Amino acid sequence: MHHPWLAVFLLATVHTTSAIADESQNVFNINVLRGGQSINDESSEKWYKFNSTIKRVAVIGAGPAGLQAAATFTQHNFTVRLFERAPGPGGNWLYSEEVPVREPYPDAPAIEERWIPEELPASEYYNDGDEGLTLDTRWREHWQPRSIWNTLHTNSPAVITELPDVPYPPDHSWVISAHTIGAHVRAYASIHNLNANDNSSVHSYSTRVEKLSKKSDGNGWTLTLKHLKKLEEPDRLKATWWIEDFDAVFVAPGPYTSPHVPEIDGLLQWSKARDVDDPSRFSVYHSRVYRRPERYRGKNVLVVGVGTSGSEIARDIAPVANKVYASHKEYADWDTLHPFQRRSFRRFPQETEFLPQISHFEPLSSLDGGIKDGKIVLVNGTIILATGYKRSNPFHLSVLNETFGIDSLPPPSDVFTGPALKYVHWTGHFIPDPTLAFSTIRPWTAGQYQYYGQAKVWEGTAHLPNEAEMWAQYNSTRYTFFRGLFGTGPSEAIVRQYVTWLNNESLENGGRLVGPWPVQNREVFSFYASQEWEKDYITKENFTSFENIPDHQWTQQDIWDISVLEDEFW
Ligand SMILES: Cc1cc2nc3c(=O)[nH]c(=O)nc-3n(C[C@H](O)[C@H](O)[C@H](O)COP(=O)(O)OP(=O)(O)OC[C@H]3O[C@@H](n4cnc5c(N)ncnc54)[C@H](O)[C@@H]3O)c2cc1C
Ligand SMILES: NC(=O)c1ccc[n+]([C@@H]2O[C@H](COP(=O)([O-])OP(=O)(O)OC[C@H]3O[C@@H](n4cnc5c(N)ncnc54)[C@H](OP(=O)(O)O)[C@@H]3O)[C@@H](O)[C@H]2O)c1
Repeated sequence: MHHPWLAVFLLATVHTTSAIADESQNVFNINVLRGGQSINDESSEKWYKFNSTIKRVAVIGAGPAGLQAAATFTQHNFTVRLFERAPGPGGNWLYSEEVPVREPYPDAPAIEERWIPEELPASEYYNDGDEGLTLDTRWREHWQPRSIWNTLHTNSPAVITELPDVPYPPDHSWVISAHTIGAHVRAYASIHNLNANDNSSVHSYSTRVEKLSKKSDGNGWTLTLKHLKKLEEPDRLKATWWIEDFDAVFVAPGPYTSPHVPEIDGLLQWSKARDVDDPSRFSVYHSRVYRRPERYRGKNVLVVGVGTSGSEIARDIAPVANKVYASHKEYADWDTLHPFQRRSFRRFPQETEFLPQISHFEPLSSLDGGIKDGKIVLVNGTIILATGYKRSNPFHLSVLNETFGIDSLPPPSDVFTGPALKYVHWTGHFIPDPTLAFSTIRPWTAGQYQYYGQAKVWEGTAHLPNEAEMWAQYNSTRYTFFRGLFGTGPSEAIVRQYVTWLNNESLENGGRLVGPWPVQNREVFSFYASQEWEKDYITKENFTSFENIPDHQWTQQDIWDISVLEDEFW
């Protein structure tokens, strides 16, 4: 039987292969764009050479990735500026009762053009109701409150969700609540003088990077920034736009910024229906606005999507809801599901009634305040779309499209499909211009190696290979499929790769040495994965087999199976 999930899997595999072929083509194009310098000319130099010294570095995003990067770059004596659209540090882990502005119906592309005044710097004052927007809507649109809810706990053990320098107490729980992890990330920010109340010229909170562009002289980058401030008496908002120039930029805006709203016939009309009990609310929301179960008391709740958000929100609301339904796509059979998907199914509360994928919603006029999928009618019902997120890399795309004139594909439809950032070396450096770097590996675990490496490259105590070699590594399976679940072969391999590279460079050019992940963390993680995810999910084999297999024997499928569920965004 042709199965939709299987189709996604196959498409992704085929797509990866063709993307590599296309990219080889673009290697050539990029070199033409760079003034006719051919790959052969460049390979005469062993290392990549920067045109000028790097002093000023911008960091976009104050989540686990951006905070570590900002702290590391500061330690390496760069003049650092950290820009974060939220009013404080934490990234995904900054809990708030405020919720994001409601997602668009129908779904909209993840990339939006932002309005920027023609002359900068500029300021504007907004009163409530200006241009039809409340101050509250403007504020939330600017900082975009996060997707976490009050009772959320990590689905990863503390040993792999911990920042350096701020260990959890020795008797901490197996998994951690969103509030604890938020405090943990804030503690990290504080000891590095990066918290919102620290007096420092480094951070700029409530400041959204609107645009990243190459400076007109070709050296460095210009960031267009927008700061939003709440003013009292009278209640107003003040927006200020300005630009700042940098020699290098590190980009870590996080993956889960754009909700995915599925295309289901009739959903658009249903999205306009108001909640029967509270007409200020709608009947359909994406899971990212979920905070607490109370408003689902006595209701019939349809959860669409059975990933982690679906199962965990269902567990939260089941004790108060009248009935919980969960709609899932058609899956071939239990054994073909990934262990994470099986875990989500298992974690749904027992009383959940599972439904097949919704093909359409009946027109509202055919019902009396109910929600219908052709089989059930939900009276006093409400829908939670736990249908995941779209990948959005606005700064990466704008650089490709506007700066280098390369038409890039739009971002893949969700975070788990499609290639990761294009033209980015395994060190996170953007190959056409390595003064730009991205967070491309799991910030909690391997991030510290990546940011240290970027600092060393920019200060000159580590080298990137020449451009031809960077492209060769980029196009080789050996380097491309480096990621994997912590504790498995590919993630061990990337850590090893970093440790070897960083230590070799430090021994030759100066700098501290780094060690591999502590073996006890591997053991704790292994035990956790077997208990919490699936028995034998991590076996002794996972730790050791990979390094014994020659790279030409790494099949796409092997790699996909182990890497798809933990990449840089988890
Ligand atoms: C509901 C949910 C639950 C999760 N649970 C887990 C879990 O249990 N375990 C786990 O390991 N991971 C989990 N994750 C994944 C989570 O993304 C990572 O743990 C981690 O937060 C990623 O760190 P980051 O710094 O890369 O991105 P983020 O934490 O997302 O931080 C990115 C920051 O960049 C800022 N930013 C974005 N655009 C701009 C801009 N234009 N200008 C200025 N600032 C900008 C954002 O405001 C944000 O603060 C979960 C994600 C979600 C959505
Ligand atoms: N710590 C926690 O407890 C916690 C809680 C929430 C989220 N998270 C993390 O946050 C990230 C995002 O998780 P998520 O659950 O929000 O997104 P997700 O993992 O992408 O899951 C979305 C689910 O919706 C399904 N779906 C999409 N369209 C659908 C449709 N029309 N009908 C039925 N199902 C549909 C998808 O099915 P297919 O996959 O088959 O397309 C998928 O199962 C993950 O990394 C997760 O681990 C963690």
